[in-house]
Amino acid sequence: MRVLGIETSCDETGIAIYDGELGLMSHQLYSQVKLHADYGGVVPELASRDHVRKIVPLIKAAMAEAHCTPEQIDGVAFTQGPGLVGALLVGASVGRSLAYAWGKPAVGVHHMEGHLLAPMLDEPKPEFPFIALLVSGGHTMMVKVEGIGRYEILGESVDDAAGEAFDKTAKLLGLDYPGGPLLAKLADQGEPGHFQFPRPMTDRPGLDFSFSGLKTFAANTIRDNGNDHQTQANIAYAFQEAVVDTLLIKCRRALEQTGLKRLVIAGGVSANKELRQKLAELMKKQRGQVFYPRTEFCTDNGAMIAYAGYQRLLAGQIEGLSSKAKPRWPLDSLPPV
Ligand code: KG4
Ligand code: ZN
Repeated sequence: MRVLGIETSCDETGIAIYDGELGLMSHQLYSQVKLHADYGGVVPELASRDHVRKIVPLIKAAMAEAHCTPEQIDGVAFTQGPGLVGALLVGASVGRSLAYAWGKPAVGVHHMEGHLLAPMLDEPKPEFPFIALLVSGGHTMMVKVEGIGRYEILGESVDDAAGEAFDKTAKLLGLDYPGGPLLAKLADQGEPGHFQFPRPMTDRPGLDFSFSGLKTFAANTIRDNGNDHQTQANIAYAFQEAVVDTLLIKCRRALEQTGLKRLVIAGGVSANKELRQKLAELMKKQRGQVFYPRTEFCTDNGAMIAYAGYQRLLAGQIEGLSSKAKPRWPLDSLPPV
């Protein structure tokens, strides 16, 4: 089975073709980062309009890259939610219409399921069951995964997502949007031992997260310590260390609690080098395994949607013609495959 995947939930237009036998055949990505940079964040209406401009050319490019004709496509998958409603509607309308015109089934994919399954685009694929730490710009979740669509949410953020905390702290440090990767780069020049950030919610049991306090702590630290380059790098270092440490403590707890030995991390923040390295060390100590998506598939992309859609279409799950975008859509409400 060969599936065209469409991602338009936020500020990236991602298109890909995944084939059950040949694997990923093509993927195209257009990032709107420059469009939103002046505003310091994503402007929903601008995002929708830019998806409209880019989606058809990117579908054509992905089809050409895969040397694929519409007859060779067996189904269309589009991100149905969660995300910005206008942005979602672009992908959903185009995806649903194309499937109708081509006489093929369509399926709506949950964006976070796409992230969660992204490591399966490469070998070795993680075997079920495993613990998944999903860390993106909009969500932070610890999930027990028994199979596709069999998700138990063990914990999530009670306020800001991890990526959001990176972006907001980066903004305080005067970095451009989205600041997560830029803050990580600045942290590379930082020295340890200058600042000590808290590790929120690690002193009590449970697997929920809270990151908004770190941003306030960063604001106060910046205010009290001036803003020469080395101080800023040291603050970035201490902030990143605190986020990574907090995520690490919660992962260790989730593995202990469930007795599982496999860990998957996905979502934009899973591109963070420090996080990947520290989790690799943890899993080595625990004699377990850790899986991440390749770096380009950590942040939003069409490949993960094509893959998740492939799995669901294979299981016969098809979306009706009256399908709607779902800006809010709980991950644990999905049907099992
Ligand atoms: O998964 P994603 O592309 O979009 C959402 O679904 O939200 O995640 C984007 C988030 C942004 O907050 C971005 O700053 C963060 O991932 N991010 C990083 C890194 N690369 C992306 N955060 C820390 N370190 C990175 N290297
Ligand atoms: Zn995402």
